[in-house]
Amino acid sequence: MYTSLLHVRQAINFERQLIDHLETYIEQETVRLKDIKRFYAKVSDLHSEVYSGPSASMANPLVAFTLIKRLQSEWLNLVYSDEAQENTQALRSGYKEVEEEGFLPKLEDLQGAAKGLMRLQDVYSLQVGALVRGQFQRISNGNPIDIYSPIVSIPLSGDDCFLVGKVAYEQEDYYHSVQWLEESVRLFRGTGGEWSPENEGTLEDALDHLAFSHFKTGNVSSALSLSQELLNHDPMNRRVLKNIEKYERLLVEYPPLLSANTELKRPNTTYLRTRNTYERLCQTQGIQPRHYENPRLFCDYFTNDSPGLLLQPIRREVLSLQPYVVLYHRFISDSEAESIQDIAQTGLRRSVVASGEKQATAEYRISKSAWLKETAHPVIGRLDQRITMLTGLNVHPPYAEYLQVVNYGIGGHYEPHFDHATSASSPLFRLNTGNRVATFMIYLSSVDAGGSTAFIHANFSVPVVENAALFWWNLLRNGQGDGDTLHAGCPVLVGDKWVANKWIHEYGQEFQRRCSPDPEE
Ligand code: OGA
Ligand code: FE2
Repeated sequence: MYTSLLHVRQAINFERQLIDHLETYIEQETVRLKDIKRFYAKVSDLHSEVYSGPSASMANPLVAFTLIKRLQSEWLNLVYSDEAQENTQALRSGYKEVEEEGFLPKLEDLQGAAKGLMRLQDVYSLQVGALVRGQFQRISNGNPIDIYSPIVSIPLSGDDCFLVGKVAYEQEDYYHSVQWLEESVRLFRGTGGEWSPENEGTLEDALDHLAFSHFKTGNVSSALSLSQELLNHDPMNRRVLKNIEKYERLLVEYPPLLSANTELKRPNTTYLRTRNTYERLCQTQGIQPRHYENPRLFCDYFTNDSPGLLLQPIRREVLSLQPYVVLYHRFISDSEAESIQDIAQTGLRRSVVASGEKQATAEYRISKSAWLKETAHPVIGRLDQRITMLTGLNVHPPYAEYLQVVNYGIGGHYEPHFDHATSASSPLFRLNTGNRVATFMIYLSSVDAGGSTAFIHANFSVPVVENAALFWWNLLRNGQGDGDTLHAGCPVLVGDKWVANKWIHEYGQEFQRRCSPDPEE
């Protein structure tokens, strides 16, 4: 479901152990090891060339996906394949040892990584064909443009594409299954249908799933020709024969199906109404509001007349007036940001969202988070103080929540939402200090691509600025939620994104923020 950079690093270490076992095995064996040697060479090259490189090359979603897939399926297939027949005892028990440590990725991790890839494909309009070559490209005015150039390209195999396509297929999402299975069929055909022991799927499996996906999207003629190709490989398959008859009959009975317009439609999402804006804002990677068009937007050195900031004013950048959004540059130091990540690390749990009166995990928020009390480390109290100096707000619980530290995994995101409660039964009211009047969000890391914070109705997005903090009011002065604060954390394309949230409540701020019955204020 969720893969962080830490998981990727752990997985790399587990795979090293497996490689050692395989190496010992290959040294003993002399016969029939062509495929195993090829696999060994491929994987050990990855370890020496990619996995020992800078972390940006590991925070690549294609690295995460292919690594998880090998650990979840390829190694198992290989170790128990017919080719690994002789003297396999040591190899298999070596594999079992690693397996028993209990940290190998599970099927749901692999499915989560596949869904993450499809999410990135959608939000950033990535070309599947380019992804398969290990590149991140979008077509713009007919030309491919690189959105991000990875240090090392990790190409995908026919079996990798088969797996992504199958995850889509199982969700009855034929928009994605068609695209990924097309690539899978193309790559499997390219290897002449030659079988590799580590693979989960075959050319026949891919043809079968692709034909059915085409049929479901109304493209009966493609379904027919793929089924005929499948029959050539598997002439006795009665089910395929029957499908062929059905497709032929359909094409005779409904000839328009032959020329049917089979433009595929994306499956609906929970945030359908704002999807186009959201994706545009994510793709533009933080278009800043144009200050010169609005002289009331400005940058300055800000002290808030606070003695603690006089010697070290903060660089303030006013990004928007309605809603009022400010970015404070260099709010936190590198070492403070690093300490906060370290302290949070062990407490990280899958993030939840308010669901009625309860909290629950949701696909629309993919990240892990931890709550840090002021007592956990002196650095947290220092940050609280700095927030108070800047905003004048009382950030002591229960007038504010504990610091929430969030780590977005590979492809992690937070779809458009409000930070404040929009229903009276929300769990956010349990503190009995009113609603979340303001958000103070600190960027604890940089990212390599993606991950901006998008303000949907206000029509701008903020790129991840390492060590900066974003502040905005969620409520109008009359206490009602400000609909213009609808915002999102765009999916992380490449990188390891960390933020920390301090949510400040209404009570305790009475002297700092004047109330007003005027809904316009
Ligand atoms: C949040 C949030 C945005 C981001 O955590 O509530 O909106 O860019 N995060 O991470
Ligand atoms: Fe938020």
